[in-house]
Amino acid sequence: MNVLIVGANGQIGTQVVDLLKDSDKHTPVAMVRKEEQVEEFKEKGVQTVLVDLESSVEELESAMDNMDAVVFTAGSGGSTGYDKTLLIDLDGAVKVMEAAKAKGVDRFVMVSAFGADNRDYWNESIKPYYVAKHYADLYLEGSGLTYTIVRPGALTNDEGTGKVRLEEAIRSGDNFDIPRADVARLLVETLDTEAAYNKAFDVVGGDTSIKEALKSI
Ligand SMILES: NC(=O)c1ccc[n+]([C@@H]2O[C@H](COP(=O)([O-])OP(=O)(O)OC[C@H]3O[C@@H](n4cnc5c(N)ncnc54)[C@H](OP(=O)(O)O)[C@@H]3O)[C@@H](O)[C@H]2O)c1
Repeated sequence: MNVLIVGANGQIGTQVVDLLKDSDKHTPVAMVRKEEQVEEFKEKGVQTVLVDLESSVEELESAMDNMDAVVFTAGSGGSTGYDKTLLIDLDGAVKVMEAAKAKGVDRFVMVSAFGADNRDYWNESIKPYYVAKHYADLYLEGSGLTYTIVRPGALTNDEGTGKVRLEEAIRSGDNFDIPRADVARLLVETLDTEAAYNKAFDVVGGDTSIKEALKSI
């Protein structure tokens, strides 16, 4: 598959790009928003498209040429205001879905957030972030695209283990962390795993291999 990675320059995104680059089945195209990022990916031999998530749907459509799938792992981050949460995490995500739909790019893998599906689990201090994630996910579920919504727990930069705990809704336990490396591997594995099509699930660190965990959802 030709896979457009939205948020390719991010901490998960760069790992997804590297995994896809080394894969026999897929080819990554990095969507970035700055000229210098284009150069960095070029040096690695990775094709890029330069589009900002605050652009129009039409501009985002231009990033979809020849694509088979989208992995959305962008985010406005904790150091911007809630205006950017709305513009990137909600409207940016929805515009990418609209562009994918318009261009017939049917496969869409979304990085959401743990518990985004259930208001009872929204952290009071960042509630608007959960609102954005929640409604972006709902839009994707109703879009007609073949989606997978991955809701990871707290991201760490620990080494990946290749193992996870993956359930439709995780509501108990004592580990809610997950290394970004494992989220990246999961996203790549998800792309052509039919068991994960049109599914949404929480994922944290665990002891089931990513392949096995995906098969059993
Ligand atoms: N932190 C957590 O514990 C946690 C938990 C669950 C889920 N998540 C979700 O995980 C995802 C990725 O996490 P991460 O750690 O990889 O994040 P990250 O390193 O902050 O990466 C986010 C990426 O989004 C890009 N981006 C932001 N605004 C953009 C715009 N206007 N146009 C195009 N790209 C834009 C950034 O581009 P630049 O590189 O140019 O800045 C960056 O590459 C996010 O969706 C986040 O909400 C996080």
